[in-house]
Amino acid sequence: MLVLGIESSCDETGVALFDSDSQTLLAHTLHTQMAMHAEYGGVVPELASRDHIRRLVPLTNECLQKAGKTYADIHAIGYTQGPGLGGALLTGAAFANALAFALNIPVIEVHHLEGHLLSPFLSEKNIRFPFLALLVSGGHTQIMAVKAVGKYTLLGESIDDAAGEAFDKTAKLLGLPYPGGAKLSQLAELGKDGAFDFPRPMINSNDLNMSFSGLKTAVLTCVKKQGENLSDLTRNNICRAFQTAVVDVLYSKIKTALSQTGFTQVVVAGGVGANKALRAKLKTLNAEVFFPKQEWCTDNGAMIAYAAAQHLDKAHKAGGFTVKPRWQLAVSS
Ligand code: KG4
Ligand code: ZN
Repeated sequence: MLVLGIESSCDETGVALFDSDSQTLLAHTLHTQMAMHAEYGGVVPELASRDHIRRLVPLTNECLQKAGKTYADIHAIGYTQGPGLGGALLTGAAFANALAFALNIPVIEVHHLEGHLLSPFLSEKNIRFPFLALLVSGGHTQIMAVKAVGKYTLLGESIDDAAGEAFDKTAKLLGLPYPGGAKLSQLAELGKDGAFDFPRPMINSNDLNMSFSGLKTAVLTCVKKQGENLSDLTRNNICRAFQTAVVDVLYSKIKTALSQTGFTQVVVAGGVGANKALRAKLKTLNAEVFFPKQEWCTDNGAMIAYAAAQHLDKAHKAGGFTVKPRWQLAVSS
């Protein structure tokens, strides 16, 4: 069965075609709105929705062309139902339902975080259930026990800012252009260890929860202390210390989660999973650690097509639809 995947939850429009029989990705197309939102220093929801509308049809045509397929070859359409920006989600949901209705094929609603969580399977064949998942995106930082597709238990999460959000907010206060997370991590590579030391909030709490909002405030206080003109060197050192603090907290919580569950595999997913320092540190764990390919770390249609293909049993007739801007993936343990 050929499953078309549609992602439009935030500032990326992604389309992909996945073959559920051979479990292979046939093609994918992506448009990022980053440059459009950069001018405003953050995602402007209305602009995001309008851009998704402009891109969905051309990206789908291009995806089918790349795969050497036509609309008539598609058997089902999976789309991100939530969580995300309401208007942005509606564009993908409306497009998916209208197209499926016209083609007389079923739709499958996909949870965006499940897409992220399963994305390492797109490039990795050795992951076995059960495993620990670390979801680190712009909106979520969660540690989950994954017992099977669809069986997710929330073990711990950030009680305030998500790790990606902390990266972005800290980058902004350091004067870096939106979206600053990746840029901050590039500058951190140039900084040296030990020049600054920021707190590791909740690292010693006796649970798997985390907190990152205080860290951003600590950076702000430090920047103010440095005075008007921050040299490149100082800024890079601050980036380094900030990144090290985030990585240390994530590492420590995953280490604890491994010993609590007895699991031996960790899957890292979400945009912050692209962070090199995080990857290097997690690889030192006494466990097998899997990361999605860099291109599947940030939002994309491939992970949605893949997740939909694992839930063909949920396929149903297209038509009326709802979106879920707020939607919990896992139940708490
Ligand atoms: O998963 P994602 O594409 O979107 C959400 O669903 O949130 O994640 C985007 C987040 C942003 O906060 C971005 O700054 C962060 O991932 N990010 C990074 C890096 N690349 C992207 N954070 C740290 N280091 C990176 N290299
Ligand atoms: Zn995402």
